[in-house]
Amino acid sequence: MLVAFNKQINAEMYSAYLYLAMEAYFQSINLTGFANWMRAQTQEEMMHAMKIYDFVFERGGQVTLEAIDKPPFTWDSPLAAFKEVLKHEQHVTALINDLVDLAIKEKDHASNIFLQWFVTEQVEEEASADAVIQRLKLTKDNASGLFMIDAQLAQRIFTMPAADEAA
Ligand code: FEO
Repeated sequence: MLVAFNKQINAEMYSAYLYLAMEAYFQSINLTGFANWMRAQTQEEMMHAMKIYDFVFERGGQVTLEAIDKPPFTWDSPLAAFKEVLKHEQHVTALINDLVDLAIKEKDHASNIFLQWFVTEQVEEEASADAVIQRLKLTKDNASGLFMIDAQLAQRIFTMPAADEAA
C-alpha cells in the first residue's frame, strides 16, 4: 500500500505539472481565463499530492519522491487541451480505483476510507473537464464564443478545503 501511495503522490505531482504546462500554453495564446482555470487546477493537484503525503506520514510510512515526467508543452487547440485533461483525469480515476481495490484486498480499512474522498473528487474532476469540452464544442471555433468561455473560466478560484475536509 505504501509503495502504491508513493506512486500516487508522483501521479498527482505529474497532474500538477501537466496543468501548469497547459497554463503556459494558454498564456502563450492570450487566453488568460483558460490559463487561470489551469492555475487553479494545478493548485488542486498539489493539494491532492499533499493530502496523500500527509496521510502516509500519519500512518507511520515513509514518503519517497521520484522524478516527475516532462509534460507536453503545446496543444493544437483549446479543445485538444481539454480533451487531454479529461483523458488524463480518467486515467487518474483508474489509478484511484486500483488503490481502493488494493486497500480492500489488504483489508486496509483506514486507507480505503481515506481514498473515498478521492473517488468522489474524481467524479467532479471528470465532470468539470467535460463541461468545458461541451462548451468548446458549441463554439465551433467561433472567436466570440471562445472569449465568452475565457471570461467564465477567469472566475475560477482555488480554495483550500477546510482542515476537516482535507484531513
Ligand atoms: Fe488529482 Fe485531477 O486528480
